This record gives sequence, C-alpha cells and structure tokens, in this order.
Amino acid sequence: MSELIYSPGLEGVVAGETAISNIADGLRYRGYSIEDLAQHACFEEVAHLILHGDLPTAAQLDAFRGRLGGNAAVDPDLLKLLLAIPAATPLMDVLRTGTSTLAHWDPEATDISHDAQLRKAERLLAKLPTIMAAHYRLRLSEAPVAPDPDLSFAANVLWMIQHKVPSRNLERAMDVSLTLYAEHEFNASTFTSRVITSTMSDLHSAITGAIGALKGPLHGGANERVMAVLEEVGSPDNAEPWIRNALANKVRIMGFGHRVYKTGDPRAVYLKTFCRELAVESGREDLEQMADVIETIVGDEKGLPPNLDWPSARLYHYMGLEVDLYTPLFVLSRVVGWSAHVIEQLDNNRLIRPRSKYVGPGPRAWVPIEQR
Ligand code: CMC
Repeated sequence: MSELIYSPGLEGVVAGETAISNIADGLRYRGYSIEDLAQHACFEEVAHLILHGDLPTAAQLDAFRGRLGGNAAVDPDLLKLLLAIPAATPLMDVLRTGTSTLAHWDPEATDISHDAQLRKAERLLAKLPTIMAAHYRLRLSEAPVAPDPDLSFAANVLWMIQHKVPSRNLERAMDVSLTLYAEHEFNASTFTSRVITSTMSDLHSAITGAIGALKGPLHGGANERVMAVLEEVGSPDNAEPWIRNALANKVRIMGFGHRVYKTGDPRAVYLKTFCRELAVESGREDLEQMADVIETIVGDEKGLPPNLDWPSARLYHYMGLEVDLYTPLFVLSRVVGWSAHVIEQLDNNRLIRPRSKYVGPGPRAWVPIEQR
C-alpha cells in the first residue's frame, strides 16, 4: 500500500475541516482565545459561542439560560431507571448509559436535521448534570437535589452535588474549568463522535460513544488518575524521591504530555492560577508544593509539560469534590464541543472510513475441519 499514508495513532494527519476551534496560536474557540473567554465570559456564553457560532447578545444569553434551566429536569421514569443502576457504578458509566437512555425520552431523537440536533444538544447539556448529581447522591444515600434554574450553570452543578449554594470563588473556578474543557478540535472523543455521525447516526449515539472514548486514562480519565498520584505522593518531602523513582521505572505520569501540545498546554497554564487561590482558601498549599516539585522534575528530565488534567484534579479537590466526579465534570462541559462537531460533520458529511495496513498471514489454502 505504498500510495497510502500510514501514521500510527493518526499522528500529524489532518482528518477533516473545522470552524469550531484552532490550536495554531494558543487555543481559540471560533476565533476567541481561551484566555479572553475564561477571563471575561461565563460558561453559558462559551457554550452558546461553540454551539451557535457566536457570542450571545444579552437577550440571546437570557433565552439560552432559560432553555437550559427549563430543560434541566429529567423525566421521573428515566430518573427511576437510572437510579436503579447499582450505586457503586462509576459515574462515567452512569453518564454513558444516561446519555443513551435520554434518547428514548427525546421527542426528536431520530431527527438529524441541523436545528433538531442543536435543540437536542442543548437538552443534553441541560440534563447531564442532573443525572450525574442524582446518581452521585444515591451513593451517599441522599435524595437528589432538584436543579435550580436561577443559578448559573456552574453554580447549579455544585448545588446539585453538594446541596449548598457555592461561594462566588468556587462558582468562578468551576465556571473557568468548564470553559477550558469545552472544546479541543479533533481529540480522540470528538473524533469518535464525528466517526459515528459520519454514518448518519444520531446525536445521542455519537455522544454516548464520545463518553466511552473520554473515560480512558490517556484522555479525560487522566484527571482522576492525577489525584491518585498526588495521594500516593502524600507530602512535599516525598515528591522528589517519588517522581525520580517513577521516571526511572518508566512510569507514565498522568497529567503530563500531550499529542498536539509539545511545549505546553495553554489551558493548564491558565488554570494553575485558580489552583493557587483555592489551595490557600482550603489550606492545602502542600498539594501545590508537591505539584510544583513534580512539574519541575518531569519538565527537566523528560521535557514534558503538564496538560489541563494536572491542575484541574487539584482544583476539583480544593472544591471538596470526590475523585469519581472529575472526568464526569469534563463530560458536562465537552458535550458542547462534541455536539458542535456532530452538527458540523453532518452539515458537510463524508463517511469517515480509513484503510488499515494488513500485517496478518499471507494467502492460505482452505483446510477442512477434520484435517485441522
Ligand atoms: N509520562 C511519562 N512519559 C511520557 C508521558 C507521560 N505522561 N507522556 C509521554 N511520555 C513519553 C513516552 O513514554 C514516549 O517516550 P519514548 O519516546 O521514550 O518512548 C514519549 O514521551 C512520547 O510519548 P507518546 O506516548 O508517543 O506521545 P503521545 O503523543 O502518543 O501521547 C499522551 C500523548 C497524552 C497519550 C501521553 O502524553 C500520556 O499518556 N500522558 C498521560 C495521560 C494524560 O495526561 N492524558 C491527558 C491528555 S490531555 C487532556 C485530555 O485530552 O484528556
């Protein structure tokens, strides 16, 4: 197959066009830098930008918030079904099942027209936090907390998990993390959603597949593994011996390295500032010290910068959130990016069907079963 191009892991392969985000000079969503968005916009404005193509006017933002608030409740029959899933089930699996199950209650589940897909995307964005929080509270033997349409998206997520209206600082930190997680061009889960969509399948199927791709530890699952690393390290004094030993044993350090950012992930740089602030507030500056030692040594020894999952794990820890919530929180935000890609793919669809390089046995003669 000399005329065909083979790149393991599709590294360096341009697999399609997109107008949603660009990583050429930092990360930009539809032209706006993530730093500007994280500093000035709320997550709802960012979600509107990614889904609808532009920042909302004040009236559009009001209407968008109204639709999110109005769609946040989940049908009681569906909730009953989801609450029947064993309490110990990982929340990523609950979200995967929940997304698939939501299709059965969605009146436009099979309508893949541009406008119907947009409406379904907004409904998914609105309902996934409710499902995640309800199942999380089941594990604590606590009743689900109803969504509060008067809260921002970020505050409502924390409200439904913790049954406490968050402080301004916690709300802002959650909002920024959601903005930074919202979209990232052709990463593995987004590409999964585009592959599924390219067969002209429906939105819920594409997002269900994307959640399956995101949960792996090399992708979104890394933020939960990062916390396991910090817990294992335990103290700033142990950070240097721990990381030197791990690197000597060729351990893959979760939260470091990236397929497309070789000199640094701009999202990680931005989120670190918020970590610093929340660490002081929650009296966990020791975790920041541990992280600094590890970051310096991994940089010096391997030339690997941290990715977004490195600070986000600490940030969520400072918010008092359990580790099992970290990758699901990524889902609540990335559903925006996935949906925009699904819609973009269908607007200009071509079946995604690459070739493989065959490395199996050459032609073999048929052997009847009694002679094998
Ligand atoms: N720890 C130790 N060594 C690493 C790491 C790491 N985290 N990442 C890459 N390397 C080494 C790797 O062993 C290889 O070394 P060598 O050439 O000596 O074999 C070299 O760097 C190149 O690695 P690679 O696996 O070919 O690079 P990749 O582009 O395929 O991998 C990655 C990208 C993200 C899968 C990888 O960096 C990794 O496994 N990181 C840890 C998991 C992680 O943090 N994932 C989150 C990614 S960003 C947020 C998201 O999208 O979810």
